[in-house]
Amino acid sequence: MLAGKRVLLIIGGGIAAFKSLDLIRRLRERGATVVPVLTRAAEQFVTPLSASALAAEKVYRDLFDLTDEAEMGHIELSRDADLLVVAPATADLMAKMAGGHANDLASTVLMATDKRVLIAPAMNLRMWQNPATQRNLSALRGDGVLVVGPNEGDMACGEYGPGRMAEPLEIVAAVEAALMDGPLKGKHVLVTSGPTHEPIDPVRYIANRSSGAQGTAIARALAGLGAQVTFVTGPASVPPPEGVAVIAVQTAQQMLEAVQSALPADAAIFAAAVADWRMAEGAVQKIKKEVGKLPTLRFTENPDILATVSQMQAGRPGLVIGFAAETENVIEHATAKRARKGCDWIVANDVSPETGIMGGDENAVTVIGAEGAEAWPRMGKDEVARKLAARVAEALGDG
Ligand code: C5P
Repeated sequence: MLAGKRVLLIIGGGIAAFKSLDLIRRLRERGATVVPVLTRAAEQFVTPLSASALAAEKVYRDLFDLTDEAEMGHIELSRDADLLVVAPATADLMAKMAGGHANDLASTVLMATDKRVLIAPAMNLRMWQNPATQRNLSALRGDGVLVVGPNEGDMACGEYGPGRMAEPLEIVAAVEAALMDGPLKGKHVLVTSGPTHEPIDPVRYIANRSSGAQGTAIARALAGLGAQVTFVTGPASVPPPEGVAVIAVQTAQQMLEAVQSALPADAAIFAAAVADWRMAEGAVQKIKKEVGKLPTLRFTENPDILATVSQMQAGRPGLVIGFAAETENVIEHATAKRARKGCDWIVANDVSPETGIMGGDENAVTVIGAEGAEAWPRMGKDEVARKLAARVAEALGDG
């Protein structure tokens, strides 16, 4: 719910601007006050009158509108809000934001604000893929700007691909997450997720069936409770959650480095399915097929990230949680794993193919801590994530 929250909605000049009118309705339905700012280009797509009528608020359009300055200056306008949302965020608006421009009302309030900013990019897919836009996106993420979308699909320009603005309800969810004042506010939680890919040669790799669904759900649930989340992910098949800092890696070694660079953290949850081995010597060139001859792959052990962090002498997170994916004697193996690795809790699950858990939507876990094992009923991975996030909040709250 967004009761009592004030959202400054900057509508950029793109065809997706019509969806922002629905966004105003959706935000208001949840109790938010929405104050629209229209760029000059936006007025080519939606009228100030429709934005104002739907918001039941005055619409701001011009930096030098003296009436507005008398009523409320642009500085005040930008600070009076709880959150600034830019939807649609065009390539031009993103470039202005990344470059620190302030030459119209929208860019000036974005520069002057002391509040968080959420952008919903929307543009032609070539514009989205253009290196300049991708550079601006990274710069904005680095500045702490939250990003929702864009989605992939048919575009108004007739092309297909990423560039469609996120749907209004997806933007509402991102707004709710950004404004969340939960029990984990002020806590930094690290989450690893997804598989790792270990190269055999430049074109082949060793992988596993992890989709990254459980780790993604955990990161989302933690962010939902107000945590600052660093999400270190291997090449997962589900997209990373909104509102978290994402570090994308390929290999176990890269994952360890990313985890170490993200510390310190109040808690760390290792949900990644890290490959146990990598090639002892990765081939620089593609291994040639030779009739009647099989290649011999020589392996070496990967670092155990969970064990490394659990056993840190200094700077160990207060709560370290590992996962144990087993196919037999689940509790026994997981209990031994908890002791061997030195983590505080192990979330154990049975990933035998007949359970359909690996790559599926559900999970049946047993949480093993110092006090023993607690079996949770089979439930959706999102629900497991929310329950685990609540436990983390309890544990960190006690400390
Ligand atoms: O030893 P096993 O792979 O079964 O342990 C699983 C747990 O250890 C998971 O939490 C996983 O994320 C973590 N792990 C790790 N680094 C590895 C192997 C596993 O962090 N190299």
